[in-house]
Amino acid sequence: MTGIDGKVVAITGASSGIGRAAAYLLAERGAHVVLGARGPERLEQIAEDIRVRGGSASWRVTDVTRREDLSALVETAREEFGRLDVLVSNAGVMPISPLDDLRVDDWDLMVDVHVKGLLHGIAAALPVFREQGSGHFVTTASTAGLKIVPTMAVYAGTKVAVRAICEGLRQEAGPDLRVTVVTPGLTATEHTLGMGEDEARARFGATVAEVALPAEAVAGAMAYAIEQPATVDVGEVVVRPTAQA
Ligand SMILES: NC(=O)c1ccc[n+]([C@@H]2O[C@H](COP(=O)([O-])OP(=O)(O)OC[C@H]3O[C@@H](n4cnc5c(N)ncnc54)[C@H](OP(=O)(O)O)[C@@H]3O)[C@@H](O)[C@H]2O)c1
Repeated sequence: MTGIDGKVVAITGASSGIGRAAAYLLAERGAHVVLGARGPERLEQIAEDIRVRGGSASWRVTDVTRREDLSALVETAREEFGRLDVLVSNAGVMPISPLDDLRVDDWDLMVDVHVKGLLHGIAAALPVFREQGSGHFVTTASTAGLKIVPTMAVYAGTKVAVRAICEGLRQEAGPDLRVTVVTPGLTATEHTLGMGEDEARARFGATVAEVALPAEAVAGAMAYAIEQPATVDVGEVVVRPTAQA
């Protein structure tokens, strides 16, 4: 299937920021979207908004750190729409800090959400994609994994791991499956708007609000990869603000 219209797309981290922008954009372009995140209220609201606009959406409470939740998200897609064409593994957290602070619970959380969360998605969707003979993994990495800076060692490490796992998956996927990594730079979402003004100025020479990409720019990169013909695999798209060094 080429294009976006009619595809069934499950998205983790769909209640905010990049995942929410992807849900709206893909639904507007005819996808059936299945939204996952931990909090039900926003998921329900976004799904309702999409339906009011004439789109097709469903949702399920999903904690990506729980393997069974990813299986249930994939099952929801199959029960409601008959198949799963794309899994967008996008859920993320950013409790960054210097290693000296020893915030080991935060380290665990980032590993659990980004690395294990991705693996849980692969475990849930790969057998389905194999059975269908088609499927597309789209995963959100970060430019933090391309240029390592202080305070972001663990976050960056998990995003480097995400790229490595996706590259291995791509090589093993064979001719029928597609694997895309979308690598955003600074993007204006709840993830980053909580960053202190001073910290943002020190890092980017301006506040987050002044330089960051809109989440829609990253969603657009996801849509670009998804809409390609089935034999065209967009491996990685890096989207960063022009002001980001
Ligand atoms: N913003 C940036 O500058 C930037 C740059 C590069 C990469 N990224 C990456 O982009 C992705 C999306 O981030 P964002 O910027 O859009 O952040 P955001 O606005 O904070 O959204 C994060 C989303 O992830 C969900 N989430 C968090 N923990 C989860 C869990 N355990 N299970 C399921 N869902 C979970 C949140 O919903 P609940 O809390 O309800 O679960 C929310 O929907 C992340 O992977 C992030 O690392 C962001």
